[in-house]
Amino acid sequence: MSRNTKGDRFTPFNYPIEVEQRIQELRKNKNIQLPPRKILRTREELAGIKASAEINTALLDFITPFVKAGVSTRELDSLVYQFTTDNGAIPAPLGYGDFPKSCCISINDVVCHGIPNEFDILEDGDIVNIDVSTIFKGYFSDASRMFMIGNVTEQARRLVEVCKECLDLGIQAAQPWATLGDVGAAIQAHAEKNGFSVVRDFCGHGVGIKFHEDPEVLHYGHKGTGMTLVPGMTFTIEPMLNAGSWEVFIDSEDNWTACTDDESLSAQWEHMILITETGNEILTY
Ligand code: MF3
Ligand code: CO
Repeated sequence: MSRNTKGDRFTPFNYPIEVEQRIQELRKNKNIQLPPRKILRTREELAGIKASAEINTALLDFITPFVKAGVSTRELDSLVYQFTTDNGAIPAPLGYGDFPKSCCISINDVVCHGIPNEFDILEDGDIVNIDVSTIFKGYFSDASRMFMIGNVTEQARRLVEVCKECLDLGIQAAQPWATLGDVGAAIQAHAEKNGFSVVRDFCGHGVGIKFHEDPEVLHYGHKGTGMTLVPGMTFTIEPMLNAGSWEVFIDSEDNWTACTDDESLSAQWEHMILITETGNEILTY
């Protein structure tokens, strides 16, 4: 029995028979890696994921005016907690493993997973990533943005801008029937052309039913390799670019904070996308 005759499980948005036929066609080629069905969203799942994503985007908009010199990362974290819970949602990072706060805030040479605290005060010249993730009615969403505090160096500004361009190019490459390798290759080429390196130790990920699920979305790689993208997949693209080497170092005191090994600056942007029949849709930004 072909799966699409079963109805909703495999028809996230009136799945046309051509999509199922294309999957069956590709399945004949053993070299093609197709996603497991469980990561193709149903209509109902998609509605839930989009509702979560809307809160997550509104949250980043909400905190933006507070991201200024003089504010502590702890104060920003409190605002994230307050806004999320006021909207009937839960901050996904809080209590994820032993993560103690509601978001990750990563300043300058911190690559990702910076833990908000009262001693980190934003200063003129800092570049900072705020990464927020939301659970709403059981559905997960995830996104992060960079902020430049006051006057930043030319190198810092370029790093932040090129990183955003890498994300946009990665999204452009994330077309139905393209591969994850196409996404990674597009990001890596643009980063390296601009003299920056792509962090290898962290990747994007499927998101929606769980915080982190398949597939792993590498931000480097080769065109035409890896999983084929199929309509109905939801995942993040979240490149981390370093001004120096790509190597990172994890703080052994908290086992979370990831810094560049050479103390060079690092930037990251993260959106969550849905692969559609004709391209993709950005769900969080
Ligand atoms: N938000 C991060 C991501 O983009 C994950 C953070 S895990 C946490 O995948 F526990 F630190 F929140
Ligand atoms: Co993520």
